[in-house]
Amino acid sequence: METEMNRDKIKSIAIMTGGGDCPGLNAVIRAVAKTAINKYALEVWGIEDGYLGLIEDRMHVLGYNDVSNILTLGGTILGSCNKANPCEYPMTVNGDTRVRDVSNNCVRTLKKHGVDALFCIGGDGTRASAALFAGNGAKVMGVPKTIGNDLYGTDITFGFDTAVTTATEAIDKIHTTAGSHHRVMIIEVMGRYAGWIALHAGVASGSDVILLPEMPYELDKICETVVGRSQRGRRFSIIVVAEGAKEKGGDMVVAKRIDDSPDPIRLGGIANLLVDKIAKATNLDCRAVVLGHIQRGGTPTPFDRALATSFGFTAVELLMNGTVNHLVVKKAGKLSSLPLSEVAGKIKTVPGDHELIQAAIAVGTGFGV
Ligand code: F6P
Repeated sequence: METEMNRDKIKSIAIMTGGGDCPGLNAVIRAVAKTAINKYALEVWGIEDGYLGLIEDRMHVLGYNDVSNILTLGGTILGSCNKANPCEYPMTVNGDTRVRDVSNNCVRTLKKHGVDALFCIGGDGTRASAALFAGNGAKVMGVPKTIGNDLYGTDITFGFDTAVTTATEAIDKIHTTAGSHHRVMIIEVMGRYAGWIALHAGVASGSDVILLPEMPYELDKICETVVGRSQRGRRFSIIVVAEGAKEKGGDMVVAKRIDDSPDPIRLGGIANLLVDKIAKATNLDCRAVVLGHIQRGGTPTPFDRALATSFGFTAVELLMNGTVNHLVVKKAGKLSSLPLSEVAGKIKTVPGDHELIQAAIAVGTGFGV
């Protein structure tokens, strides 16, 4: 961390949104740009399509009007990309494709446009690359984004509340049709290797079974819960399953590999796998629903708009007051920051003794264990 104030050194900043998109990205862009322009009279650049824009030198100046009226907009006005990894970028020269580290080129692009500091609004992959950039002499500030809330070092990421709201509303709708048809409905939600969305949306929707990556399930236990409900006259059941959930002794279900992505594994398919197994074991009518990318879309909730605004503002304040190469975090209700080098490459999973798990068990929810 630099100890001197950055106020005399920083005249121009750039903003980038990397990785999978997430509700609240525009709210952060707006907060960073407006704070930079209003409070510090900085020049602000927007980098297009995440690291790809930096690699290909695609960036433009953002004026005040460009970031006005975007607070409630889903997606990102800058575009994003969850493939381009500057540290392992496939380049084709004379028909020969080789993976190269182009992070130096990215730092050169920033220098060419006179940018003094880069704001990386991103998840795991974006953060890991940002930490390497920082090692290459760039000044970087990170803002934690992801619907999955799985970023290490912060209690909360913006986008999570919106994703949980979307998933809960969808499960509420599935609840009524499950009741009419006396069915077992298995709803798959996102979240990669962590079960935060499944746990929160599962509890909020009063689901009967919640399956988390952190608690490998036993098929018999899931069936016991739904058959038990059926025998007690509760003729339908709702099962929420995280895309990273797996059977005890088994593996996560991989939907596909995207080799040029910082995290090449795309999980998905567990609900469709479970639907046949549960139907066969219980003789009940079962259906699978995969919520998918609707969890990443739409307008951010008021909570996420406020969180994104405070993250963006804090990132600029920290930078202008001498902090560089840090990630803004929220711990125990307080905003602060941690070195990118300390948080890069680490994820935050649901602890087995989490209070929501205990509450869910107390109200009769099963976890398949
Ligand atoms: O990392 C966020 C996330 O939404 C995951 O939960 C999901 O598996 C993945 O992104 C999907 O990525 P893509 O945009 O490549 O479909």
